[in-house]
Amino acid sequence: MCSIVNFNMNGVVKTFPVVYGTLHEKAINISTLREQTGYITLDPGFKNTGIAKSSISFVDGERGILLYRGYPIEQIIQKCTFLETSYLLLNGELPNDNQLDHFSEMINQCNLNNNTKILQICKNYPINSHPMGILSSLSCILEFMQEENNNNYIHLLATLPILAALIYRTKNGLFPVKYDNNLCYTSNILNMFFAKKTNNYQQNPIIVDALDKLLILHADHEQNCSTTTVRLLSSAHVSIYASISAGISALWGRLHGGANQAVIEMLENILQNGGNIHKWIEKAKNKKDPFRLMGFGHRIYKNFDPRAIIIKQVAENIINKLKFNNPILKLAKELEEVAIHDSYFIEKKLYPNIDFYSGIIYKAIGIPKDMFTVMFALGRLPGWIAHWKEMRLNNEPLVRPRQIYVGYRKRNIV
Ligand code: CMC
Repeated sequence: MCSIVNFNMNGVVKTFPVVYGTLHEKAINISTLREQTGYITLDPGFKNTGIAKSSISFVDGERGILLYRGYPIEQIIQKCTFLETSYLLLNGELPNDNQLDHFSEMINQCNLNNNTKILQICKNYPINSHPMGILSSLSCILEFMQEENNNNYIHLLATLPILAALIYRTKNGLFPVKYDNNLCYTSNILNMFFAKKTNNYQQNPIIVDALDKLLILHADHEQNCSTTTVRLLSSAHVSIYASISAGISALWGRLHGGANQAVIEMLENILQNGGNIHKWIEKAKNKKDPFRLMGFGHRIYKNFDPRAIIIKQVAENIINKLKFNNPILKLAKELEEVAIHDSYFIEKKLYPNIDFYSGIIYKAIGIPKDMFTVMFALGRLPGWIAHWKEMRLNNEPLVRPRQIYVGYRKRNIV
């Protein structure tokens, strides 16, 4: 393994150190590039740019590998709950029984059950506000509603699901449901969403398990757009609350987490327009048409998305067991089948991503479309927090890229 690379720049050799990761990732450290040569690098979309060294998760897009703190996602999904996964991401190791009990206890203590301010604020958003916009702004002001001595990370983990449920219930004219310290984290989410006036939500273990798995699959994914947003804010020493708020906004985009809502809207649209899959595949391939097949393609995964494989199984399991008969699932399967055998998608290495099937599971659970990306945010939260924390612990510098200016030269106002 070489420790340096030499660049021959117009006849002059310049030397740069090479940085290696634990799993054979390699990078050229160009931090002295401008100083040595006068050049900067230009890398739109940061397709070749590493923002930092990180030990939280690892993705190998060519081989379809995803590790959380070294553990393969396939093992995590079999053996861990979302709460254990969150602990792992935040602290670096899986918890023992005592640590897990303590973690759950601390979460229970932040239950917001007596906080009437949040409810009032929630009721005052314009009726057509998107839940992601509300969640982003509410998570920002949470900072000013925490009790003294709260651990901010735990406070966020405890309260984001409460806010999500409040947003859903307020938008739908339903009374708020309190956090129940006797229920586990994921059952609490379902109860706060769906409990009836007189009785708790009837917990179905199949649904609890499916939701828990969805949260785990979303929990971290190295330097994606929203996580990088959170890291960027952390680098400027912005609070964890405002950083998470920014992460939620970034996730909202249709090319990122918002794709889960966009997939279902696309499938509904196809169905309403006669269900001619081939017509829509041709639209997606037409360069003059802005339409893209939502839920297909990924910046990193170029063979398959390991999360999509797991999520497809979860979707099929829940749908079979709940006898959820929905034409959307049938259409999704047909669309996938046609797309993965189409030369355009094969050549461009476009495969179904995690968002292709997640919406179908949310739909089966009873979560409305405009809340899908909120559910993604609940899952991604521990990852965001871990990255925010890592930036600060590693004392990473302020993120401040350069640019190549292509505007007017200096001119005078006439
Ligand atoms: N449908 C049709 N064509 C596509 C698609 C698609 N879904 N995705 C990429 N392409 C084409 C694109 O037009 C381009 O063609 P050409 O080389 O001829 O110009 C080529 O494939 C490469 O696309 P790109 O946009 O340069 O690739 P990227 O790595 O920058 O984009 C992506 C990745 C996820 C933004 C893109 O695949 C996409 O827009 N997919 C649909 C939205 C989606 O499902 N997003 C969820 C991503 S997974 C969850 C998450 O991480 O948040």
